[in-house]
Amino acid sequence: MPVDKPAPVDHPVHPHIRARWSPVAFDVRPVEPEKLRSLFEAARWASSSFNEQPWRFVVGVKGQGDTFERILSTLGEANAAWAQHAPVLVISVAKLSFTRNGNSNRHAWHDVGQAAASLAIQATELGLRVHQMAGFNPAKARTELGIPDDYEPVTAIVIGYPGDGSLLPETTRARDDGARQRRPMAQIVFGGTWEQPPAWLA
Ligand SMILES: Cc1cc2nc3c(=O)[nH]c(=O)nc-3n(C[C@H](O)[C@H](O)[C@H](O)COP(=O)(O)O)c2cc1C
Repeated sequence: MPVDKPAPVDHPVHPHIRARWSPVAFDVRPVEPEKLRSLFEAARWASSSFNEQPWRFVVGVKGQGDTFERILSTLGEANAAWAQHAPVLVISVAKLSFTRNGNSNRHAWHDVGQAAASLAIQATELGLRVHQMAGFNPAKARTELGIPDDYEPVTAIVIGYPGDGSLLPETTRARDDGARQRRPMAQIVFGGTWEQPPAWLA
């Protein structure tokens, strides 16, 4: 059961970028409030279109009220099976219009993703792990969490310390043993011609 699974990078990157990954095995250990504050501070300082900061986060801490259970109830079955053991569940939410003029913010989801990425890197710095999920019911999240019109649930996010997977069925636990994979850079970074790698990549 890997607690660490550093990315087999082709080029040097920051150690936290290598170390961040999305496990299914989380420890039941709670996350300290000061660490939660640092996570959302990191998210808060992401860049955003017109500095709108369209990200919102509904945070459920296990044992504190029923927000954790309400978020858990929105997760797809496969995700809930492992996410239930983690100490913190979050729904990220995008504000879809600009506060300054009411216009549609085409980059709201992009900016929420940026904030989530900052949060994940800060989590790595703090010894925590983050697992983002599309597999939840946004309509149910809207109802359960009172998310208003003009805001859209984006992802569910699991936060906690890495675990040994002892609470998980073997098939679920085995997911964490898979190799980390990425497309080669030449398939995602192009020069002047579509799908042609730039000269500096040669
Ligand atoms: C927007 C988004 C949605 C995802 N949805 C799910 C999900 O529903 N269930 C799940 O187990 N993992 C989910 N993941 C995790 C991805 O599968 C994972 O990030 C990807 O395989 C790369 O692995 P790594 O994060 O360990 O590098 C999601 C990740 C993102 C960013």
